[in-house]
Amino acid sequence: MTAQEARYLIARSVTNKDDLKGFLLFQMVQEELMDEDMMANCTYCYELQLTENARNHGLGEFLMNLLYQIGCYWKMDKVMLTVFKANEGAFKFYTKKLGFKLDEISPGACLPRYKAKHFDYELLSKPCK
Ligand SMILES: CC(C)(COP(=O)(O)OP(=O)(O)OC[C@H]1O[C@@H](n2cnc3c(N)ncnc32)[C@H](O)[C@@H]1OP(=O)(O)O)[C@@H](O)C(=O)NCCC(=O)NCCS
Repeated sequence: MTAQEARYLIARSVTNKDDLKGFLLFQMVQEELMDEDMMANCTYCYELQLTENARNHGLGEFLMNLLYQIGCYWKMDKVMLTVFKANEGAFKFYTKKLGFKLDEISPGACLPRYKAKHFDYELLSKPCK
């Protein structure tokens, strides 16, 4: 979190700047593709955390859309993130609401099911247009 390349989007209350509502931690990184000679430029979301009372009001969507715009502005290939399979709410949020799909290097996309089931996470991504 203290890496020099780490960037934050921080949401605060309009009326009280000390009242933090949540944050998104991201970094511009290169990730492998299935073709190991190729790399993708990724805007990688490492954390998205909102306080409980700030959830389900569209703030998560707002921050992720902002991140997507940043990625597209800098001509990155995609926005990417890791989500635990057990976090069903977040999984639904990214896939159903925001249109993220299993990335090609995610266990569920690139491994046979009997191997993929041993992983407790998936990698999701959305191409920048
Ligand atoms: C996941 C999170 C970032 C979503 O942000 P948010 O502002 O609450 O989400 P939004 O209000 O933009 O969207 C809510 C939608 O996402 C889904 N969703 C989000 N969190 C959910 C949850 N815990 N359970 C069920 N559905 C959830 C809902 O389906 C909802 O859809 P709807 O608008 O059709 O009702 C936020 O709930 C959060 O901080 N959760 C705890 C931390 C976490 O899990 N972070 C993700 C780590 S990968």
